[in-house]
Amino acid sequence: MRILSGIQPSGPLHIGNYLGAIRQYIALQQGNDAYYFVANYHALTSVRDAARLRQYTFDVLTDLLALGLDPERACVFVQSDVPETTELAWLLTTVTPMSWLEKCVSYKDKVAQGLPAEHGLFAYPILQAADILLYDADLVPVGQDQKQHLEITRDVAERFNNTYGPTFKLPEPHILPQVAVVPGLDGRKMSKSYDNTIEIFDDPKTIEKKVRRIVTDSTPVEAPKNPDTDNLYQLFALFADEEERAEMARRYRAGGLGYGEVKKRLAALIAERFAEARERRAALVADPARVEQVRQAGAERARKTARIVLERARQACGVG
Ligand code: ADP
Ligand code: TRP
Repeated sequence: MRILSGIQPSGPLHIGNYLGAIRQYIALQQGNDAYYFVANYHALTSVRDAARLRQYTFDVLTDLLALGLDPERACVFVQSDVPETTELAWLLTTVTPMSWLEKCVSYKDKVAQGLPAEHGLFAYPILQAADILLYDADLVPVGQDQKQHLEITRDVAERFNNTYGPTFKLPEPHILPQVAVVPGLDGRKMSKSYDNTIEIFDDPKTIEKKVRRIVTDSTPVEAPKNPDTDNLYQLFALFADEEERAEMARRYRAGGLGYGEVKKRLAALIAERFAEARERRAALVADPARVEQVRQAGAERARKTARIVLERARQACGVG
């Protein structure tokens, strides 16, 4: 099966990105034909500093490799190394009704807040559709917040196919329900835009400091607590094994457990989970030529597939 997904280099990766998306990327590279990329064209809608965007692009590529994306198995590349993407985005844009894009959340939210929105943000879902359709993807592993973009992708593909004849494959989203939304330090969705993240490659001290910021209620230590409604427990449950989860839930209900103790354990679990990746990352940072080599090989491989599909689309609509 052809798997494809992308992640924006708009800042350091956080554990929501890992649990919601990257962990699936790693699992799915086994036994499938997987394509994963750093979505730097998309990041241009929010990062407006060339040096910073370049750095983030390198960082996210490095992070993905350190976390376990294997260029021997998956094609790992940078979106802008495949300029075919932007041509396909234009072809798709010509069959996309304005009304579909007007209802897209990120654009709608910005306008609702009275903020000026660029055309790039408005057209963002079309660029994402191009990313996906350009590689004949079957399955797209993402977090819940990307569901709407996947629906638009399918609708646009269908519209193009109905207009010009069968050209694109219709992709399916792959969303794991139990990690659909990882909560952040304040209980809202963990997201760079809310400043409520724990970064994957934070050092153990910083992780501990951030975990201490997780918002909890003011139930006294002695009182029984409900794990199901506690944000801290939700995060703990994502990192602990089944046995430890059950024991912790029992202790919540029994009373006599302070949130401070849970936080200490959670910080240790997070640091432990990424310890090996942290070492691999340090090795890659010390050898940027290796990352560059992966990038170039990925681009070459990705473009080979992209050129074939783009040509099919060009022929179909009469510009080829
Ligand atoms: P952010 O919201 O921090 O800007 P992105 O939009 O760059 O994160 O997300 C990259 C990927 O990580 C997407 O597939 C997205 O669905 C997933 N993701 C981001 N935040 C979360 C979260 N809190 N829980 C689950 N998945 C998430
Ligand atoms: N919009 C996605 C996000 O913010 C990133 C992305 C760009 C993407 N192109 C993609 C995800 C194609 C999946 C497939 O997370």
